Amino acid sequence: MKEKEIKLVYTEYNDMAEMSDEDRMLVGKAIEAGRKAYAPYSRFQVGAAMLLEDGTVVSGANVENAAFPSGSCAEKTALSYAVSNYPGIKPVAIAVVARTEKGLTGEPVPPCGNCRQMLLEEENRNNTPIRVILYGAERIVMVPNSEKLMPLQFTRDHLVG
Ligand code: THU
Repeated sequence: MKEKEIKLVYTEYNDMAEMSDEDRMLVGKAIEAGRKAYAPYSRFQVGAAMLLEDGTVVSGANVENAAFPSGSCAEKTALSYAVSNYPGIKPVAIAVVARTEKGLTGEPVPPCGNCRQMLLEEENRNNTPIRVILYGAERIVMVPNSEKLMPLQFTRDHLVG
């Protein structure tokens, strides 16, 4: 028997001023995107902005549905848009922000498991890290690599046994 450990190294910023210009720009785009969310059920509006390797930024918001499982998260919306409209252009970063009726959340909002899984696969197939920037008004978290958000992950390699 062996006990093992998985380590996550990430950066926490207390202020947007500490971030790179690129990441600050991406957070701004995610804030804009979140305003377009369709979230009448949760009233939790999420925006995501994804930066591609050529400088293109695509964004997405959460889209809810009366049949609850039918909705889409902001990250998934942005990723699906990038993959289907910019094939071959690799994503390099994604920023995520959320707003409640009280305004932007104080705490960063982490992507759900489903979105982590999707980011992970995109990262793996391109062999290029996708930086994840999670904005909160009180602190901002930056994880340099999406794969790190999904320990003991399921990947396409498992399908072949
Ligand atoms: N949601 C996102 O869009 N991204 C996340 O990272 C977490 C959750 C959405 C799904 C749903 O529309 C609402 O937020 C409440 O869960």
